[in-house]
Amino acid sequence: MKAHIIKHSYQVSKQDRANANNHNSFLVWFTGLSGSGKSTIANLVEYQLHKTGVKTYTLDGDNVRKGLNKDLTFSPQDRTENIRRIAETANLMVDAGLVVLAAFVSPYKKDRQNIRTILKDANFVEVFINTSLEECEKRDVKGLYKKARAGEIKNMTGISAPYEAPVNPDIEIKTENESIENSVKKIVDFITEKLKLNNE
Ligand code: ADX
Repeated sequence: MKAHIIKHSYQVSKQDRANANNHNSFLVWFTGLSGSGKSTIANLVEYQLHKTGVKTYTLDGDNVRKGLNKDLTFSPQDRTENIRRIAETANLMVDAGLVVLAAFVSPYKKDRQNIRTILKDANFVEVFINTSLEECEKRDVKGLYKKARAGEIKNMTGISAPYEAPVNPDIEIKTENESIENSVKKIVDFITEKLKLNNE
């Protein structure tokens, strides 16, 4: 079946959309444990960008798993499929000219590598929200760690499922040592450079 699918080229290109928006588009991927602060930081970064007229969209684990990926569990295979679908969705949004912020635990290195392959290197920024398990468990904003310790949640990342930390992320935020304002600024500064069109 695959052999009979031929890609159609459209007249309006990604570059045309970038020129119209006056900025590049790419994916900024936040990885880290549940409760590490990914969504909070992504939200503030998006707010800053939006204020300056950048076209953005945020994809978030808890939201996407209520819709597009509601058929998926937290087994290793389903997490891989979760990340693959999100990467493909983000790829379309990046083609559409958006700066996409994505906040997902994404615990497996091979899955994050796959995002890089789908998006192509230049369109992918990896942000590691590095908060220790101890701290996430202490915060336990959603009460999930308590439930996982009690055996009520299986495959909980950090407790009964692995988290493979990125070795060489583009940006690393240690939320226990850095203020949220500084963390947001660091990411926004990085993005601002990347937004500039080549002809500027
Ligand atoms: S991922 O591993 O497939 O990338 P994703 O980011 O979509 O995970 O979803 C993680 C969110 O689901 C967490 O923030 C948490 O609120 C919730 N969750 C529920 N069960 C689990 C679990 N077993 N492991 C991790 N997160 C879980």
